[in-house]
Amino acid sequence: MRLTILRVVTKEKLKMFCPIVLLLIVALSTASDRWDPDGQVQYSPGSACIVLSAPHGGRQRPDWISDRRAVGCETADGDCRWNATCPGSSCRALLYGDPNTREIATAVRDYLTEDGLRPHLIANHMDRMKMDPNRGGPTLSEGIQCDPAAKRVYDSYHGFVRQAVDAVRRSCRGRGLLLDIHGQHHPQNWTEIGYLLRKSQLNSGQYPAASTSIRGLVGRSSRDSASSLSARKFIIGDRSFGSLLNSFGYRVVPSASVPAPETGGYYSGGFITRQYGSLTGGEFDSMQVEITQAVMYASEAERDRFSRHLAATIGLFARANGYA
Ligand SMILES: *[C@@H]1O[C@H](CO)[C@@H](O)[C@H](O)[C@H]1NC(C)=O
Ligand SMILES: *[C@@H]1O[C@H](CO)[C@@H](O)[C@H](O)[C@H]1NC(C)=O
Repeated sequence: MRLTILRVVTKEKLKMFCPIVLLLIVALSTASDRWDPDGQVQYSPGSACIVLSAPHGGRQRPDWISDRRAVGCETADGDCRWNATCPGSSCRALLYGDPNTREIATAVRDYLTEDGLRPHLIANHMDRMKMDPNRGGPTLSEGIQCDPAAKRVYDSYHGFVRQAVDAVRRSCRGRGLLLDIHGQHHPQNWTEIGYLLRKSQLNSGQYPAASTSIRGLVGRSSRDSASSLSARKFIIGDRSFGSLLNSFGYRVVPSASVPAPETGGYYSGGFITRQYGSLTGGEFDSMQVEITQAVMYASEAERDRFSRHLAATIGLFARANGYA
């Protein structure tokens, strides 16, 4: 019902409507959004087998959470104390977020919805200066730095991601794809796709499926063949995610045209990609998307164009690989 209204009322027609009708439509389209009790994390449930996560695009810096520190004191057991500094063995935290990536993820969600694939979207509105949801396990303390309020918002973020992943698994025969949306500040003007393979593995042409966040996808497609479980075709093949995005005119690593980062900067995937993908089994896959800063800081029109192309890439990839 709601979708029908939105589809029929095109942007042109909207302009002619009185503001009250417009407000009503906006209210209807966001009525299903859920928020954490602190108003920092937004979950917009979807209906497709796709989950978008935007952990580093927040700008809110509420004063009831202390700022994270860039430097802590490494303890003898390799942990880090963030309320202390010490000479020598210090540990460091990244505090600066990925501007505009929440807006890009939201635009990608809207374009995918137009395409009939409404993804789930979890968006962090809190600045990375206060809390980092892409840390966890042994690096949890770096993300929340002992602040109980930060831990509460952190738990809300992961609670929503878990809800979305579970909803997708139930409705998509256990399958699904999570894309964790980031922006990178490396000198290379390329978008980095992270499957948890290290830079050195990509540089030496090694693609062990069992070490990737798309292990489920590779296993599914190789079930009937005797081929060793190499993820090569899914990572640098002509129909890989990187190559599909590349076909819209962006440099992407890894892809058929740039198979490896060589000496360039490259992020292989963080905690969220590791936690929710198929590295440890199952058919729910994940990847990290690190958008080039040339797009992240571009004009709104340029960002919108990229969002449309990223959405088209996700749609093509999802339909070709059994996520839609
Ligand atoms: C620093 O944090 C540790 C726990 O990580 C705690 O035991 C210690 O008392 C804290 N020190 C100060 C000065 O707050
Ligand atoms: C970055 O690459 C895109 C194409 O992917 C190009 O349009 C843009 O001009 C480049 N920007 C910079 C700063 O090199």
